[in-house]
Amino acid sequence: MRIYDIIKKKRDNNELTKEEINFFVEQYSKGEIPDYQASALLMAIYLNKMNKQETVYLTEAMMNSGEVIDLSEIKGIKVDKHSTGGVGDKTTIALAPLVAACKAPVAKMSGRGLGHTGGTLDKLEAIPGFSIEMESDKFVDSVNKHKIAVCGQTASIAVADKKMYALRDVTATVDNISLIAASIMCKKLASGANAILLDVKTGDGAFMKTLDDSFELAKAMVDIGSGMNRETIGMITDMDEPLGFAVGNSLEVIEAIETLKGNGPKDFVHLCETLGAYMLVLAKVAKDYEEGILKIRHAISSGEALDKLKVFIENQGGDKRVIDDYSLLPKASKIVPIKSSKAGYISKIEAEEVGISAMILGAGRETKEDILDLSAGIVLEKKVGDYVREGDILAYMHFNKEEKFESAKERFIRAYSIVEAKVAPRKLIYGVVT
Ligand code: URA
Repeated sequence: MRIYDIIKKKRDNNELTKEEINFFVEQYSKGEIPDYQASALLMAIYLNKMNKQETVYLTEAMMNSGEVIDLSEIKGIKVDKHSTGGVGDKTTIALAPLVAACKAPVAKMSGRGLGHTGGTLDKLEAIPGFSIEMESDKFVDSVNKHKIAVCGQTASIAVADKKMYALRDVTATVDNISLIAASIMCKKLASGANAILLDVKTGDGAFMKTLDDSFELAKAMVDIGSGMNRETIGMITDMDEPLGFAVGNSLEVIEAIETLKGNGPKDFVHLCETLGAYMLVLAKVAKDYEEGILKIRHAISSGEALDKLKVFIENQGGDKRVIDDYSLLPKASKIVPIKSSKAGYISKIEAEEVGISAMILGAGRETKEDILDLSAGIVLEKKVGDYVREGDILAYMHFNKEEKFESAKERFIRAYSIVEAKVAPRKLIYGVVT
């Protein structure tokens, strides 16, 4: 088999076989295929697309290019939840203990944030002492004993994807549905879950900006999951404005804790309840969505989810006292209100601009090497649909680096559209793909 023939076949818009896709992924991972030929093939795939079967083959080959984690020693059906990334997306911190409190095992591998979107690991590390590094024995024992553990994704997973993603990034071949779907799913499948719930974000702050693209991506990923015998559900959820009020690591931890205390923002609570109910159904802990919702709500009102969060933090070396004492979390030296320059209804808060603004304050990374300020970020006071008077506070900025404030503020203000006519609050959930 020759890579030249495979490139030519895809260039001429023909379907690749399993053997050809395996050959490409294996040889490219080993360094036997140079970047220029891999780039040519990726561009041919980008332009001519892959069908469902080719996408499943690509996913499987990338999954097998690295370690495939075996979670079979963990009792019960392991359901993984994956978000395609957003601004203020602290879902895992609230959802994992919620689902675990309902007795479904949560064995989760999470990632770090880059650019305007945050990552769960960074947020968890805002809790003093919390460690995301865990030997696999302890990971398995923790889930069997406490029903919950979250660790960092090991570098040995889906090795081909890492190499290929870096190449796609510099060859304008990232935004292809098959390539994105295969890239996300190969890592999820290699992480050992039995079932997968996908939270596909849509809108300004998301990877997929339009509803059509978001549904298409969700469908492609659900097809891959089903094609590889994992029950998979995709939910399309809003990321046109930030999720909840808090953006920034320590600030998001506080909001997640408040949510488990029953004081969460409306949109975030709705998202956690819905995702949680589907996870319980996938884990066969609830017989249907309605029962799932009741169980999730009970886990909050009874305090069981908050107790589970305590156990989770303690088991991973963190200081569980943060739950009752937020002063133990990293705290910014400056907290400055940002005021509205006009009166009217908020019609838009561009999530991406808010995310970039928080990143400038130190809450996110512009490059992989950047060191985060875990205390920095933004807490919104208003959401889309709210009325503001001139001079009302739109948000508070939390930061330590004074020199960053003006440019962060400028980006933040740019995110807002305020109009005279009344505006309806945004819809949060656009649909479910099964
Ligand atoms: N996230 C991934 O992991 N892969 C992609 O291709 C895009 C987003």
